[in-house]
Amino acid sequence: MVLVLFFVTNLQPFIDATSQVPCYFIFGDSEFDCGNNNGFTKASKSNYPPYGIDFPDGPTGRFTNGRTQADLIGQFLGFDNFIPPFANTSGQDILKGVNYASGGGGILNETGKTLGDRISMDMQLQNHETTIKGISNLLGSSGAAESYLASCIYLVGMGSNDYINNYLLPESYNSSQLYTPNMYATILAQNYAQQLRTLYNFGARKVAIVGLGLIGCALPEIVLHDTNIFTCAGNCVTKDAEVFNIQLKSLVDQLNNDLLNANFIYINVSGITTTYLAADAKSGVTLKYGPCCNTDLIVGRAECIPNSVPCSNRTMYKFWDAFHTTEVVNILLAKGMYNAQTPFDAYPFDIVRLALL
Ligand SMILES: *[C@@H]1O[C@H](CO)[C@@H](O)[C@H](O)[C@H]1NC(C)=O
Ligand SMILES: *[C@@H]1O[C@H](CO)[C@@H](O)[C@H](O)[C@H]1NC(C)=O
Ligand SMILES: *[C@@H]1O[C@H](CO)[C@@H](O)[C@H](O)[C@H]1NC(C)=O
Ligand SMILES: *[C@@H]1O[C@H](CO)[C@@H](O)[C@H](O)[C@H]1NC(C)=O
Ligand SMILES: *[C@@H]1O[C@H](CO)[C@@H](O)[C@H](O)[C@H]1NC(C)=O
Repeated sequence: MVLVLFFVTNLQPFIDATSQVPCYFIFGDSEFDCGNNNGFTKASKSNYPPYGIDFPDGPTGRFTNGRTQADLIGQFLGFDNFIPPFANTSGQDILKGVNYASGGGGILNETGKTLGDRISMDMQLQNHETTIKGISNLLGSSGAAESYLASCIYLVGMGSNDYINNYLLPESYNSSQLYTPNMYATILAQNYAQQLRTLYNFGARKVAIVGLGLIGCALPEIVLHDTNIFTCAGNCVTKDAEVFNIQLKSLVDQLNNDLLNANFIYINVSGITTTYLAADAKSGVTLKYGPCCNTDLIVGRAECIPNSVPCSNRTMYKFWDAFHTTEVVNILLAKGMYNAQTPFDAYPFDIVRLALL
């Protein structure tokens, strides 16, 4: 411990003085991506206008107009700068954390294959292993790295694409012919459990697992499944996903019981979203559904058309493109994800408490 403090003191200039935890690592899909797909030729990408129109650095590869939920949680944790993408980290950057999230990525390797290149959860963990080697070098030993990594917050949000870009696309994937929704959720949860144990073996002790949102409310799902947007919260797509969410919650108990000093929490983002939608409906300034930018859903493009002119006031819309929410909605959801507003929002406790451990 003394050794760790010594090295950490020496590296003080590289560590945030104000953040609640020294480091923050992010795993996930396009919801959290901040540029990891930029270098791919064929992939789900967003490093072009009008993406980032409300972000200080413009289009960075974030799939929204401004900050992502992962960015916002980083700010709530007190980080002055956004956590950089694995694809663009150098030197001491990695001590504050790395964002591995990749648009199209999933728990299963084959998820998102129709989109082109993407970084699956298995690959994101391999990238994290590379980071850990770098941190060990910077701190002088793997023992020092181990203590350091135990103090970080890990945000993990995977699984949406295993539905949207796998199970719910029978023309390209055979999973829905092979498995019932319950079987598929179990297969996903088993794979995820293995991956989260790997993350623990890589030194993670404070891990927030973000459940699936109301994926049935995204426009392509509404178009494909011919659902009325006003009933999206109750449709079958969202029900399939909730089966997985229930398994995730018990996975949290299992991991905390099995693994020494592990602190896994479950973030009920579908519940947080339902609460938000109910409040929005009652508010009198109900946001329009969107999307805010032009998409080409007829040819299967859920992303904004490059260089198209988006709506002028992004704070009036829920959806930015056909899949991803606007920054204004991200702010409301990230607040609930960070600091639970109801006993259902986080289990067994929220990120505020996770940071204090
Ligand atoms: C990569 O990181 C550098 C330094 O943090 C930044 O100036 C640059 O804009 C980043 N490039 C991309 C493509 O994100
Ligand atoms: C997925 O791909 C990774 C990296 O190529 C590999 O290590 C892993 O075994 C694969 N997982 C499955 C279930 O095939
Ligand atoms: C389903 O698809 C996977 C890969 O896309 C393939 O490996 C597997 O053989 C297929 N299974 C069946 C029963 O068609
Ligand atoms: C999520 O929260 C809602 C209430 O907002 C609750 O009905 C639901 O059971 C919760 N889901 C899980 C998996 O805890
Ligand atoms: C944008 O919309 C919000 C919410 O309706 C409103 O408060 C704000 O004044 C609008 N901004 C502009 C520039 O029109």
